[in-house]
Amino acid sequence: MGSFPKDFLWGGATAANQCEGAWQAGGKGLATVDVTPFGPDRFPVALGRLEMLECDDKHYYPSHEAIDLYHHYKEDIALFAEMGFKCFRLSIAWTRILPNGDDAQPNEEGLKFYEDVFDECHKYGIEPLVTICHFDTPIALIKKYGGWKDRRMVDAYVHYCEVLFDRYKGKVKYWLTFNEINMLLHLPFTGAGLVFYPGENVQQVEYQAAHHELVASAKAVKLAHEKMPGAMVGCMLAAGQYYPRTCAPEDIRAAQEADRDNYFFTDVQARGAYPVWAKKRMEKAGITLHTEPGDEQVLKEGTVDFVSFSYYSSRCITTDQEILAEEKADGNAVLEAVKNPYLKASEWGWAIDPVGLRVTLNTIYDRYEKPMFIVENGLGAVDTVEADGSIHDSYRIDYLRAHIEQMEKAVNEDGLPLMGYTTWGPIDLVSASTGEMKKRYGFIYVDKDNDGNGTLARSRKDSFYWYKKVIASNGTDLA
Ligand code: BG6
Repeated sequence: MGSFPKDFLWGGATAANQCEGAWQAGGKGLATVDVTPFGPDRFPVALGRLEMLECDDKHYYPSHEAIDLYHHYKEDIALFAEMGFKCFRLSIAWTRILPNGDDAQPNEEGLKFYEDVFDECHKYGIEPLVTICHFDTPIALIKKYGGWKDRRMVDAYVHYCEVLFDRYKGKVKYWLTFNEINMLLHLPFTGAGLVFYPGENVQQVEYQAAHHELVASAKAVKLAHEKMPGAMVGCMLAAGQYYPRTCAPEDIRAAQEADRDNYFFTDVQARGAYPVWAKKRMEKAGITLHTEPGDEQVLKEGTVDFVSFSYYSSRCITTDQEILAEEKADGNAVLEAVKNPYLKASEWGWAIDPVGLRVTLNTIYDRYEKPMFIVENGLGAVDTVEADGSIHDSYRIDYLRAHIEQMEKAVNEDGLPLMGYTTWGPIDLVSASTGEMKKRYGFIYVDKDNDGNGTLARSRKDSFYWYKKVIASNGTDLA
């Protein structure tokens, strides 16, 4: 195995709402994730509805306690340091800083919490990589504006960014504007706090919201550069190449269009303008984007410094009605897809495709020619705790090893510029799609089950010692 660049950022990635818990502590306001329950009502309809904006007594809300990283962060960061992390990706909960999303004065307790987290990271030489918004639109702003469909969200977000950049300059160098921005088109409530009123044109609303997020992202990039010289700001996409299920030309076209759905956002964020095909697409769908004078300039001036993405699996698509009927896969995240007969899948139906990571890296590089960062990758699996407390998660090690091997080829054989690799959920946390605890990604086990029972005690899995060795050898020892 070849080595990785000497400053390669090895580490792990989390999101505030999936690990912090403490949903009302320290003056925190409510966000979308706080009202998203566990169980069949998690996403009762694909589209957000107004009645989803409150918690009730009938449901269990996993984010309320999660793994209580809020009170365990010192212990958890010490464990990351023990593994040799160079980087810790985390998100800031918007409503810890601005409980109503747009308060004139920020909440000092929230600001102090993240400052302490960053200081704790730096104590061990761990570089924080901060997602500004990870699936947590403030509820107060949804009630006020209906989420990102309203242009005023741009100002609210930019104000939030100003607060963050002023406070954390010198402590945070790497930033991501929106987590998996393309999920807006698939999970509009989670992705952009969108609620729909009867009669609204869903696509129109989604693309308008997308425009607002893109303008907000570009403004954030510019602001970050002004306020924090040397800062690097990236976009973040839920990646995974679409493969045509057959070599029928119709399938090739279907895969191309499905990929474009994903690249719609990053094309704007990395290149600074809407691609021609996107304009045509919107025109054909009868979508009229309401823009403001100067938006084009904003998008042009706010291109990202690097492109980051999550990668769990490739996707497979076909137009063949027979195959579609027989092989429709539930997995492959939430995207419409069919099973790839050449690949095995995880227990949650997500196709396992390490080579697809190399394919995806190459596609993204060909498209943008910018440095890249893999900010999520991992296997959600059920772990068994043995009588002596040990956890033998060889399946997780196998998954990660195979992906790191492909990443190494992309770096050393293809010559691609890769800044780092942060695995998803280095410590077990709440699943975004299902709300389960049992879908575990961690090197560190957390004693908590799907119903919220458990001591929250942390323990090291076999993969903990394995990843430590991987980092210590800068990726050359994957045994
Ligand atoms: C990504 C998200 O979609 O995938 C994370 O950025 C999420 O928030 C991760 O947790 C894994 O998905 P899941 O549904 O297994 O938690």
